[in-house]
Amino acid sequence: MQIDALKRVLVLLGFVSLLLPTSTSNAHGDKLPMKKGILLVAFGSTIPEAQVAFENIDRSVKKVFPGIPVRWAYTSRIIIRKLAEQGKHLSTPEEVLSDMMRENFTHVAVQSLHTIPGQEFHGLVKNVHRFAGMSKGLKRVIVGYPLLATTEDLHRVAEAMLTIIPKERKKKDAVVFMGHGTHHPANVYYAALAYRLKKSDANIFVGTVEGWPEIDDIRADLKKRRIRKAYLMPFMSVAGDHARNDMAGPEPDSWKSILEKEGIECVPVLKGTAEFQEFVDIWVDHLRIAVDHFR
Ligand code: CO
Repeated sequence: MQIDALKRVLVLLGFVSLLLPTSTSNAHGDKLPMKKGILLVAFGSTIPEAQVAFENIDRSVKKVFPGIPVRWAYTSRIIIRKLAEQGKHLSTPEEVLSDMMRENFTHVAVQSLHTIPGQEFHGLVKNVHRFAGMSKGLKRVIVGYPLLATTEDLHRVAEAMLTIIPKERKKKDAVVFMGHGTHHPANVYYAALAYRLKKSDANIFVGTVEGWPEIDDIRADLKKRRIRKAYLMPFMSVAGDHARNDMAGPEPDSWKSILEKEGIECVPVLKGTAEFQEFVDIWVDHLRIAVDHFR
């Protein structure tokens, strides 16, 4: 029967088009089927406990994007070198993207696991975009925003920060978050976050190790408010060297020592943001936007 034959052809065509997803061609005209990948990029940490945080993100990403291979890379050259001395090899984003090119990936979503769109983020964007459009290279490379990018993120991050404060903290106790801080213009995010948090709770403070506000600004504010007790919490993905030493360490210039000298009892909390699902969900949502841009 003619109609049956036609139906068979249509079914066959439908089947074939399913088997042949969007193709991309290289300089020699070879067709590459669409192959999606995810590259998660963190600053890196020498602290073994950081692995717990990274594994938590890895699990969440694989759950949300089943079937898309997930790779990892790190942007800190110092950390890569330090771990190499211990015999541990960490890859840079450029190394991983080069591998992915060879493995015929066509579309890669690169998710920045940084906190603000500062130097590490902008350097990442600059480098990974060079991998798109090369001959025999990747067709699309899309970078997902770090934790804090939009005003909406600012509200969401602030809400997440409020939820991770230890339950035993009383309203009159201060909570001092330690951000990394930077000379990059994106340092303003810390002040924006401090302003947003203050609207929810006047005894919450945000300072930075390498930017502004500094611990001296926080100390003055705590004194003004006659604070007797403060919870010290890192606002960094990993409770690494800065949290353990600059925030909670025994040296006289640690935040704990500086505030204790003012008679303020300090309770350090050594947990990075990547250990809390509230923050991981924000990174994952940013990755989702990047993956949704594949075409
Ligand atoms: Co640092």
